[in-house]
Amino acid sequence: MKNKIVAGNWKMNNTFSEAEDLLVAIAESIEDMRLETEIIICPPALYLEMATDIAQESNFYVGAQNVAYAEKGAYTGEISAAMLKSVDVDFCIVGHSERRNYFHETDEELAKKIDILLANQINPIFCCGESLTDRENGNFKQVIENQIKNTLFHLSVEQFENITIAYEPIWAIGTGLTATPQQAQEVHAFIRKLIEEKYGTEMAYNTYILYGGSCNAKNALDLFSCTDVDGGLIGGASLSAQDFVEIVNAAETCTKND
Ligand code: PGA
Repeated sequence: MKNKIVAGNWKMNNTFSEAEDLLVAIAESIEDMRLETEIIICPPALYLEMATDIAQESNFYVGAQNVAYAEKGAYTGEISAAMLKSVDVDFCIVGHSERRNYFHETDEELAKKIDILLANQINPIFCCGESLTDRENGNFKQVIENQIKNTLFHLSVEQFENITIAYEPIWAIGTGLTATPQQAQEVHAFIRKLIEEKYGTEMAYNTYILYGGSCNAKNALDLFSCTDVDGGLIGGASLSAQDFVEIVNAAETCTKND
């Protein structure tokens, strides 16, 4: 039995008090649940310390949404991996399509971010996924393969063990258009095969591959039931404690039925 991961990516949402209310509401809802599922909450950087404080008394992990590619110094506005670690952050999203598109992050920069996170014992959640044009042109697998190979395949076996992958088709993010379970399964199986070819069968099995893109309380069960979908990276639906916990429950159901 392999348990699932449900991660919430809050993006640039919530004021301090809203963030606190949401964290407390989630912590209260999961308090009495004996969860197999691993929960990771990724709030804006400003609230990470509050989140890790609340997480200490609860059973979720905290992730950042971004990290600087450099170690320290004159990078106005950036937050380093060591800073994240100093407030007990355990995970960090890397390569989200919003960062690739709006902030022009390249595979090369993302590889540096991966390295610096690993050097600071923070587990990267690496996002990959194709645009609608790539999907329609039929070259989406090539795009995903390039993203993964360019950014992750320089890692040693020991390093790769700490990687979680999120497949997030760009056309499904925040659009209400979800990949069908068949579409998700096809890409997840493809990614797992790439990992198998590079790092072997055991690593391929052990690596968590999450689905992200309009995943919600209604469709989570169908998506998470796919053989190669190990959970979800949830955007919009992670901003409601009730919806988020329903998604966690879907993950629990899948693990128990496994
Ligand atoms: P969404 O976002 O669930 O709002 O589509 C997912 C993500 O971008 O991580």
